[in-house]
Amino acid sequence: MTSSTPAGRIAKLFGEDDGKVADYIRQGEKIESYISRKLGDRNLWALGPEKRRLMFALVKLLRPEVAVETGVGAGSSTTTILAALGKGVLHSIDLGVKYGNEKEEYPVGFLVPERLRGKWRLHTGNSADLLVPLLDELGTIQLFYHDSTHEEKHVMFELRNAWDHMERGILAVDNYMWTPAPGKLSLEKGARLMQLSRRQGGFCIIPKNIG
Ligand SMILES: C[S@@+](CC[C@H](N)C(=O)[O-])C[C@H]1O[C@@H](n2cnc3c(N)ncnc32)[C@H](O)[C@@H]1O
Repeated sequence: MTSSTPAGRIAKLFGEDDGKVADYIRQGEKIESYISRKLGDRNLWALGPEKRRLMFALVKLLRPEVAVETGVGAGSSTTTILAALGKGVLHSIDLGVKYGNEKEEYPVGFLVPERLRGKWRLHTGNSADLLVPLLDELGTIQLFYHDSTHEEKHVMFELRNAWDHMERGILAVDNYMWTPAPGKLSLEKGARLMQLSRRQGGFCIIPKNIG
């Protein structure tokens, strides 16, 4: 693994050696195979396996006490973050409408196993309404993951507010290439945007005060 691979870049960001990230990715394989088995051949717009592995390692390295995500869907990212969290708490915001197509509908977060739900708080509603009051209540967060409405204005709104509630942390964005918002945010804050995947619209992180 070298710093030209996503895992190598994550290791470098945290000042760790590549072996540590590889170890975390190995530790994540158990939850990864659970998610893959449960999803089967359904896509459900879930965070893909390559991105999930990187997310697991990121959370292990960052060890957030408070994490926030928008866009739960089937719960693939939610399950991954919760499995890696340790003692932290994950707050997720989702519209809460049943998920899937007309033939098959699933409750939001149906993938999240019972044993991980103790450190999960699901807030049902639009993040345009719920995010700011939630962040104000939480004070400081260390991880924010965006996967809700991928429209520039909305992404910008979420990222700006999450950034302002971080002292040291990471913004992670799925499908980041679908709007200019992550690039604009990184320019606005003078922060580095690190691309971790180009698949399905890409996956990036914008670290704050790390490394
Ligand atoms: C792509 S899916 C999320 C997939 C999920 N991150 C995963 O890995 O399985 C998008 C989800 O975002 C939710 N959503 C879309 N716009 C939203 C908004 N403005 N506020 C809250 N949730 C929203 C939808 O209800 C849907 O469940």
